[in-house]
Amino acid sequence: MESLWRMSCPIEKREPLSQNRTADIVVIGAGITGILTAYRLQKTGKEVVVLEKGRIAGGQTGGTTAKITSQHGLIYHRLITNLGEEKAGQYAKANEAAILEYERLIQQEKIDCDFEKTDAYVYSRNLRQLAQEAGAAKKLGLSASLLQNPPLPVPAAGAVRFQNQAQFHPLKLIKGLCEKLTIYENTLVRSVEGHLVQTEHGTVRAKKIIFACHYPFVNFPGMYFARMHQERSYVLALKNADFPSGMWIGADQPSYSFRRYHDLLLFGGAGHRTGKNQAGGRYDMLRKKAREFFPASQEVCAWSAQDCIPAGGIPYIGPYSFSRPDWYVATGFQKWGISTAMVAAMLLCDMLCSKESPYAEVFRPRRFSVKEIPAVMREGKESASGLGKRFFQIPGANEKSLPAGHGGVVLSGTDKKAVYKKHDQSASVVSPRCPHLGCQLEWNPDEKSWDCPCHGSRFDHRGKLLDGPAQQNLPVRHKNFAKKKDKKSI
Ligand code: FES
Repeated sequence: MESLWRMSCPIEKREPLSQNRTADIVVIGAGITGILTAYRLQKTGKEVVVLEKGRIAGGQTGGTTAKITSQHGLIYHRLITNLGEEKAGQYAKANEAAILEYERLIQQEKIDCDFEKTDAYVYSRNLRQLAQEAGAAKKLGLSASLLQNPPLPVPAAGAVRFQNQAQFHPLKLIKGLCEKLTIYENTLVRSVEGHLVQTEHGTVRAKKIIFACHYPFVNFPGMYFARMHQERSYVLALKNADFPSGMWIGADQPSYSFRRYHDLLLFGGAGHRTGKNQAGGRYDMLRKKAREFFPASQEVCAWSAQDCIPAGGIPYIGPYSFSRPDWYVATGFQKWGISTAMVAAMLLCDMLCSKESPYAEVFRPRRFSVKEIPAVMREGKESASGLGKRFFQIPGANEKSLPAGHGGVVLSGTDKKAVYKKHDQSASVVSPRCPHLGCQLEWNPDEKSWDCPCHGSRFDHRGKLLDGPAQQNLPVRHKNFAKKKDKKSI
């Protein structure tokens, strides 16, 4: 399903890389982080090449709700408690600086991308928690205030308001910025060794390499797969849905997100860990809520997106690892990818231009905190469970019992297969083994895709890679077992 942003702002196609070349800097990923970072670095006079496995902004940037804000749910009380006031202040100031930088950039480049200043709110049933958050945010210098009984259709005793935040159309900005950048689309990076980036059709040798591809796919060094997981969430664009101005996010579960875009309301929610979706029906859950909250509304379009959730709740932005001094990474943006993309672009540009950044420490990827240990252990447990399923779980379904339009892992002799049965009774059959680190894939009935519960790689029903960290398609077992069987039986 196409997002509102993609439907309303097509971006001109670029050719894939077709030969070997050199550059000062390679940026892997042409989402908003890659484009903002490449744009800033190019402005400093560096030769920058951007490599994109699909289309420009074809990944998570196209699925965002596009809020530019330092208001990231109930975060500041937790940050002060876990990291202290200084680092919590770095996080707050970096995100506030990102809002101003978006505004400056949009004005400087004269890009009409529907940028508008508005307030951001986190609402909850728990007033005590909100008061605590408002106090923590104010302590860090943010313009936060507590209000009671906001006029919302969802249950809320109050909200914390942050003033002077912003919203926009992300693809209109990207379209304007990428005009002057060297970008190769449909260029999947196969490997990175030292200063050499190997793609399907050529190589780029560069002095510095930036992984701005949502999820860094080089497992060792870095081990980012052990320090974060991915979550999916869903958005409906609704006509005739009355809602107050501003951008809203719920702190309680289930959490819903709201913002307006012209005469539409973007209503988001139904989030879950990627790969934990056997029950399906996430769009339907959201549609049911839309009917309850906005009975007169009509759906214009619907889409989903995926976010990287880091252990410890702080993104990883900076040097990739001790042993790769010329590699950099920006990942783990949680649900706040738009503001954090600008933070990453500013930070990485400073680092690559040998400037000190006042915000670097809190985002340092090589940090270690004992507070992150329980989250890292949870990630390890999830991976062990995904791997264990592959070896020890006997599938309940067989090829015949699968209803048309559904998928499932089935046993075929002693072998497991991932089967999607189409409505004409033909089938796509692929390996159920995730090529990233081998976990068993799960069928996603909402998106008709195979999703990995370990680190969130996704594939369409034919096995084509949709989301990393995997970098390969799934092996196709055989394309149409139903027809083969029919022939045999004839
Ligand atoms: Fe890591 Fe599947 S994404 S094993």
